[in-house]
Amino acid sequence: MNSPLFDSLQQRADEDQSLGIKRKFASDDARTQRYSFEVTDDVFWDFSKTHVDAEILNHYLSLAEQVGVVEKRHAFLSGEKINNSENRSVLHPLLRDTDNQGITMAADNALELARDAKQQFVSQCKLVAEGLDQRATQVTDIIHVGIGGSALGTQLLFEALSGLNPKYAVHFVSNIDAHQLADVLSKCQPESTMVIGVSKTFTTAETLQNLESIGAWMQAGGIADPKASMYGVTASPEHAMKWGVPEQNVVSFPTWVGGRYSVWSSVSLSVALLIGMDQFEQFLAGGAEIDRHFYQTDLADNVCFIAAALDHYYTNFMGAGTRAIFAYDHRFRSLVDYLQQLETESNGKDRKANGEPVDVKTSAVIWGGVGTDVQHSVFQMLHQGTSLIPAEFILVKNADHELAEHHKVLLANGIAQTAALLSGQDMDDIERFHGDENLSDATKKAKLFSGNRPSTTLLVDRLTPKALGSLLAFYEHRTFFGGVLAQINSFDQMGVELGKRLAKQVRPLLDQGADVGGSDFDASTKQLIQKII
Ligand code: F6P
Repeated sequence: MNSPLFDSLQQRADEDQSLGIKRKFASDDARTQRYSFEVTDDVFWDFSKTHVDAEILNHYLSLAEQVGVVEKRHAFLSGEKINNSENRSVLHPLLRDTDNQGITMAADNALELARDAKQQFVSQCKLVAEGLDQRATQVTDIIHVGIGGSALGTQLLFEALSGLNPKYAVHFVSNIDAHQLADVLSKCQPESTMVIGVSKTFTTAETLQNLESIGAWMQAGGIADPKASMYGVTASPEHAMKWGVPEQNVVSFPTWVGGRYSVWSSVSLSVALLIGMDQFEQFLAGGAEIDRHFYQTDLADNVCFIAAALDHYYTNFMGAGTRAIFAYDHRFRSLVDYLQQLETESNGKDRKANGEPVDVKTSAVIWGGVGTDVQHSVFQMLHQGTSLIPAEFILVKNADHELAEHHKVLLANGIAQTAALLSGQDMDDIERFHGDENLSDATKKAKLFSGNRPSTTLLVDRLTPKALGSLLAFYEHRTFFGGVLAQINSFDQMGVELGKRLAKQVRPLLDQGADVGGSDFDASTKQLIQKII
């Protein structure tokens, strides 16, 4: 990281470390408004409790110019093959823009493909829904079988949008660990269950094995040809059919939709069936609203860019190795898992797109949980730990239950946490609040909070499909900008390949009589294998 710009940013960060965020509020009456953004009716962004200021933003605008952020954004939406290692365009925003509102400028054939994919999704969804209604036995359960990008987004959508009494229970089976599968199957009956296998490649070992085992369970339950009733959602119809999904049950999506960006496609069939296509369209519309902001708004006012710039600043210049996301809404309990894949699989890379080693730190570790639970577990470290942890709070203004007091207390807690992280608590405060408690000096000092700990707040008006679409598209584009600032290709995932290959080599060594000693593995790995066989 040797450049005059990075030197200035480091100097700036050193000053920020010692002077803190409160000082920025003190010196700028308009700070809150300046760094808050009302991009849509559904989500409000407040970055004012971070270290953001004009100087930092200007530095990042210079970095953006140096690495060609605006050009790369244009290349992305024009359908250039920005996923260079896999020689692919990255056009998932097209799925949200099929009526071509000018977000994407991809070649006509891509738009056509997107329209076809959407059309097929809509008509298949209708057909499947009709089929469900006509089945001799009422369908009560859908098992969605898929992993990573073929499950996390759909699970999030299901939990966020299905409401209190969904028409079907949707179960997710992802892991090769059959404890998960056994648990799901124990809740279902073969004749009233519909199975949807979801895999971009339809070659993923876990998904195929789980589908086979579900097929065996159905057969044991009296269904003669289980595969005949299964659906396959994939970008590789030939693999799905080769596995045994009947041609008419294959719902495809284009190969330029990456797995972790596929929640907008037919991958979400199970949720579209549940909430209806009209509602799913609202989800797409919410995403498209942020697409327009992402593309049309200057970087200085672009929430996706500001968030990415701050991520880069904290990770590279303030030593933050992690970023925490706390959603104050039970329906967002899978959000962190989804965002973990989105950000870390996209940007957890040590090579630039041109193959050279990166000269900056890339993705922070993404972690977090749901408030208020997290307050009673990890927040100790957030407030008084020795690591700087930029925190993100997602609050939902309007609840969809009747217990108004619960919701007010929930929101009060979320808001209070952001205030506490900023303000901290000094000895004067401790004397004021605990002066008459006769505390020892050590106890008083244990109550010191440094404050000046950065947080961003996203206030969602109500958890609707549209709001959720906006939220997820924001995170996608922030990840894109983060990747461009680090000069990496955010759209491949080579880092998952080696482990998969080695697992195939370990597997036969777990059988009795295998020649573990003669294998090429290191001594520790051989020892583990030997302890298992
Ligand atoms: O192993 C990583 C990965 O390729 C993810 O990127 C992807 O979302 C997941 O596996 C599932 O892949 P598929 O949809 O092809 O089954």
